[in-house]
Amino acid sequence: MYNNEQAIYLQQQTNKLLSDQSIIEINSTQLSLLKEVLQFHEYRYYVLNNPLISDYEYDQLFQLLQRIEAQHPELITKDSPTQRVGNSLNESFETVQHLVPMLSLENSYNAADLIDWDRKARELSGLPILEYCIEPKFDGASISLVYENNMLIRAVTRGDGVQGEDITNNIKQIRSIPLSAPFSEYGINQIEIRGEVLMSKTAFKTYNEWQLKNNAVALANPRNAASGSLRMKDPKDVAKRNLEAFLYHVSYFTKLDETSIKNEALLTTHTGTLEMLWQCGFRSPQKEKKVVAGIDNVIQHVQDFEAVRDELPYEIDGMVIKVNNIALQEKMGMTTHHPRWAIAFKFKARQATSILRSIEFQVGRTGAVTPVAKLDPVAIGGVMVSSISIHNEEYIKEKDLYLNDTVLIERAGDVIPQIVKSLPDLRTGNEIPIQFPTHCPICRSKLFKEEEEAIWRCINIECEAQVVERMIHFVSKDAMDIKSLGEANIRKLYDAGLLKDIPGIYQLNFNTIATMEGFGKKSIDNLKAAIEASKQQPLNRLIYALGIRFVGETTAKTIANSIENIFDLPYQTIETLQQLDDIGIKVATSIYQFFQNQENITMLRQLEGFGLQIINKKKEIIAGNNLQGQSFLFTGTLTKLKRSDAENIVEQQGGTIASSVSSKLSVLVVGEDAGSKLEKAKKINTIKIINEDEFLQLIHT
Ligand code: IVH
Repeated sequence: MYNNEQAIYLQQQTNKLLSDQSIIEINSTQLSLLKEVLQFHEYRYYVLNNPLISDYEYDQLFQLLQRIEAQHPELITKDSPTQRVGNSLNESFETVQHLVPMLSLENSYNAADLIDWDRKARELSGLPILEYCIEPKFDGASISLVYENNMLIRAVTRGDGVQGEDITNNIKQIRSIPLSAPFSEYGINQIEIRGEVLMSKTAFKTYNEWQLKNNAVALANPRNAASGSLRMKDPKDVAKRNLEAFLYHVSYFTKLDETSIKNEALLTTHTGTLEMLWQCGFRSPQKEKKVVAGIDNVIQHVQDFEAVRDELPYEIDGMVIKVNNIALQEKMGMTTHHPRWAIAFKFKARQATSILRSIEFQVGRTGAVTPVAKLDPVAIGGVMVSSISIHNEEYIKEKDLYLNDTVLIERAGDVIPQIVKSLPDLRTGNEIPIQFPTHCPICRSKLFKEEEEAIWRCINIECEAQVVERMIHFVSKDAMDIKSLGEANIRKLYDAGLLKDIPGIYQLNFNTIATMEGFGKKSIDNLKAAIEASKQQPLNRLIYALGIRFVGETTAKTIANSIENIFDLPYQTIETLQQLDDIGIKVATSIYQFFQNQENITMLRQLEGFGLQIINKKKEIIAGNNLQGQSFLFTGTLTKLKRSDAENIVEQQGGTIASSVSSKLSVLVVGEDAGSKLEKAKKINTIKIINEDEFLQLIHT
């Protein structure tokens, strides 16, 4: 799309624009340059996955364009990057005709199917051997795009293949789809392109985590996430899903009259059209495709690819094999259902059905009750599945689940198994509604649900399930790291009545344990040593190990760095806790409540008695805490110190390390090639900005 020279030029222009964002009086040449710069960075980010500037810098340029366009609305063009942002809702989706019917593909499942298909293809084409282009079969939602005079004019769903729905506003939210593309350079006036909208595995995971955190319903799999987004009412909701698109087929085009056009030969092969789409700024499977001659090579490649399918960042459900020569494609023609020149090779299914037999309600460390579906065991993609978390009560309703229902299960690559849906058509009348318990299945106390929460909780902190889960968390790797006392042993000792709470870990009766099965002399010695060693774990680990709600490892460090002794914490108020970096009202309230609970204080006193580290050693050792009360952040490359050493020095001298630039930050230390953090810090007057030498001076005074 952009050659080296163009990229260098556009990057230079980027830097110029970034250094002087005050230009508001701008002529139309400068304005189109600014748009071109933004388009270039969208392409680097969304198509190449290789950005040259930070999100912050991109936002700066984007806002500059917004400011200019606000002053000169007459200069707004349809393909301006600002025009993606959908402000109006989709009231309805108009039905429109595809220029060419959107056909499906014939399926094949094994080598024999492919050999058979190749034989027919050779007969139809009249050639002894055919050249094929093999591409991933993207598992998303198919779309068709129409460009006219280089501008995107319409995006349409597949619909019934003949007509679909106009979803242009939603498709504009997908940044890898250009709003304009230089088709005229290829002699093309109007063009219809086919492709697939996808959600990457990471985007899917992040989206679902966010949904569950916000009491919204999680999506079943990336494909549903992509297809469900096409007809959303609010384009802004579409933008939140971070969708991507691969464009893999040109179904129709009309030519311009002009004689001199760039590389007309590209339009004679399928791979040529992929190349042209790539040149025009689309994400076509240019790198993912492979061209081979003869069906044996096809078979080899599809089998090789199936073996690495899980390594891709998105889901594919097979491969598509296409005759590469377009004149031959035309000669071979199509049925009403599929073209004869292409076939899909479907990978082994990752879906299966099973019967939902029961629901187990599990109680976690924080009392959250999670329903887990117990199913008749079924193999999916080589893994036996018999148990699937179904998140919360809302999810059960949303998926319309009943006991004894047949359910469709999917295990998408490395994504954990999910119930996609129930199959109501297969109901026999023996289905039973799922009752969410009103009382804790373990301790029988009443369950509570906070307003706007989706999760029911047992709030009895003595609840056996919570006590055990808390101990398991306490000994876990990132907490006190008591290796010999993993989950299995905690449960064993608890069931035997030899361990009932966290302080009990330090009072174990090893003589009795030695009489139990599975505890030989060596393992008892290891256990003793591991428990003893845990007493030296630093304060931040102890705080994390306590399992306070919302307190992860980073927050635990922040808290530990802010105190001298753990018993300072009961004296902190919600307000003082909120002064700490990245601690908001929710986390502060949770910490506050924990330390107001006398039972927790008694437990900590006991732990102190056993010799655990309740004192912030760093603060104790360093004389003259000269960075006390100041937070630091390092950006760019330090040349004299390792960043981790520099951060340790700050902490040793009483300072803290911030995780981002905010008004709570005291000092930003700037190394070489600093980027967006520096720019952001410059805008906050209270932040002191120093270089590495100044930092060294500071810590030596
Ligand atoms: S070509 C006329 N190529 O799979 C040929 N389709 O099951 C049009 N699909 O309807 C299709 N990846 O939605 C083609 N690389 C690829 C594809 C692909 C996914 C979808 C497409 C098609 C469906 C058939």
